[in-house]
Order: sequence, then C-alpha cells, then structure tokens
Amino acid sequence: MRHFLRDDDLTAAEQAAVLDLADAMKKDRFAHRPLAGPETVALIFDKPSTRTRVSFAVGVADLGGQPLVIDAQTSQLGRGEPIEDTARVLDRQCAAIVWRTFEQARIEAMASVSRVPVINALTDLFHPCQILADLQTVREHKGRLAGLTLAYFGDGANNMAHSYLLGGALAGMHVRISAPEGYHPDAAVLARAQEIAAGTGGSAEVIVNPVTAAAHADVLATDVWTSMGQEAEAAERVEPFRAYMVDELLLGVAASDAVVLHCLPAHRGEEIAADVIDGPHSVVWDQAENRRHAQKALLAFLLGRGDQRR
Ligand code: CP
Ligand code: NVA
Repeated sequence: MRHFLRDDDLTAAEQAAVLDLADAMKKDRFAHRPLAGPETVALIFDKPSTRTRVSFAVGVADLGGQPLVIDAQTSQLGRGEPIEDTARVLDRQCAAIVWRTFEQARIEAMASVSRVPVINALTDLFHPCQILADLQTVREHKGRLAGLTLAYFGDGANNMAHSYLLGGALAGMHVRISAPEGYHPDAAVLARAQEIAAGTGGSAEVIVNPVTAAAHADVLATDVWTSMGQEAEAAERVEPFRAYMVDELLLGVAASDAVVLHCLPAHRGEEIAADVIDGPHSVVWDQAENRRHAQKALLAFLLGRGDQRR
C-alpha cells in the first residue's frame, strides 16, 4: 500500500514519473479515467482550504471518480472518534483518503490502518502535494529542475519550508531556506534533505541573510508568516520576518529570469510585495492550477493506475 504523507514517500525517479504524468494529464485533461465507476475519494478538512479542496474535487471528477468533501467539524472525527476507526470505515468505501490536518502523527495514524492510499493535503509539518505542483510549474518555465537554485524566505519551520527541503532535494535542486533565528527548519528534516541531496546532486542549507540567499537564485518562494493554527502568534511574528519579504530588492539580486512562487493565500505587503506577486516574474496562478494536474497524477500513481486511459 502506497501512501503520500511526506515528500520523500516518493523516490526521485517516482517523483519525476509523477511530474511527467501530470504534464500528460494537463495536455489532455479528460483522457485518464483511473477512477471510472465512479469510485469515491474522501477529502477531509480539519483546516480551511480553497485551492486544495477545489483542485482535488475537480481532479477526482476529471479522473472519472467522485469526490466526497468532509468538513471534519461536522463529522464524528471532529468530535473525537478515533482516527483508526475512521480509516476502517472509509477504506471499505473509498479508493483513497485525502486529509488536511494538524500533527503529522494524525495522518500517520490514519495510514497505519488504511487499506487505501492516504494523501497528506497539508499537515503542520509538510505540504507535499503543493510541492509537486510547484515543481511541475518550475519545470514548465525552466525546462528542468536538477541544478536549479530555489530560495525560500520566511518561516523556515513551517510545512512549506520542510516540503521544499525534501521535495526540492529529491528533484536535485539546491534548496536555500532563509529564515530568522528561532524559525529554522526541523533539524531531522534538514538532515534528511541533505541525505537525499547527496544522492541527487542537489543541496539543502539554511542562510539567515535573505540577500545572500536570493543571490543568483532561479526560483524565489515564500509563504505566509503565520500558518493555520498559529494565529495567536501573528503579532509577534511580524518583526522578525520583515526583512524576508520577497520584494524588488530580493528579485533584483536573483537570476534575471527568476520565477516567483507563492502557494497562496498571500498577504501583499507582508511576505510578498504586491508588485512582485502581480508582476512578470510571478507564476503563482500556474502554480495554483497545477495542483489539479499534479494531484491527479499522484492519485493515479498511488493506485497503480498511471497508465489507465479512457
Ligand atoms: N496552497 C493551498 O494549499 O491553498 P489552500 O489552503 O487554499 O488549499
Ligand atoms: N503554511 C501555510 C500554508 C497554507 C497553504 C499554512 O499552513 O497555513
């Protein structure tokens, strides 16, 4: 049984195969029908979502299946029913379980008993579906991934930073995390990224100075300073992160053809300047669209049905 709980649940070769399939699915959106029946995919949300919910729902329908969106707050899971019992009910009726939740341990508990693939639609620790879409986007614009430098600015300890580390290293990229003291990546995730990078020709490092991190980078990426669940810390997070806004200064020292990523939702004037996210280097709308294609490819791959067409 294949699950996708973190970026390195795929090997480098499997990640590349999923990205190739995502490109094929983007070219011919209704050609692949691995969920024909229709089979149902459960999409459970413990936190709010726009992109993830829409892209999975549309993507599952594209694949011939039907999405079942479950707001955890109105389910028994939200009232404390054991995660494992929820898995045992869902896996008899659904082809896959997609879940956005809090602690990584929760999705690991779901996967530990589920007899169908469990997919991480964002946890506190990782956002691996987003990184697949980001890699597809970068490859579309740059023609390759291996050897490119991706610099991420802001909260180095959040799900996006951790997934850039693992997913970028798997793709053979040079990943720079630029974050203030106190907001550096989880040490085990950084070490794992460095281990992966040693085998793919990439690298993974923390660079505190944002201008140093941005220098000659091919990709500049950022994310909100305050993630879902951290709202009580929002005020104290502004000052340390101020120097990490992706603006014309950072863009000016990056490669002249650099692309700018933001997983969205964005706060213009905080983690990203309005003229950058709305400017010519920004590829954020391609990035948001590619969630659909990348996740369709991932679903087909995990189900072992990557070659199933109409
Ligand atoms: N980027 C992303 O996951 O967006 P949503 O929170 O809207 O799903
Ligand atoms: N780091 C953000 C990503 C949102 C898609 C969060 O967890 O809220």
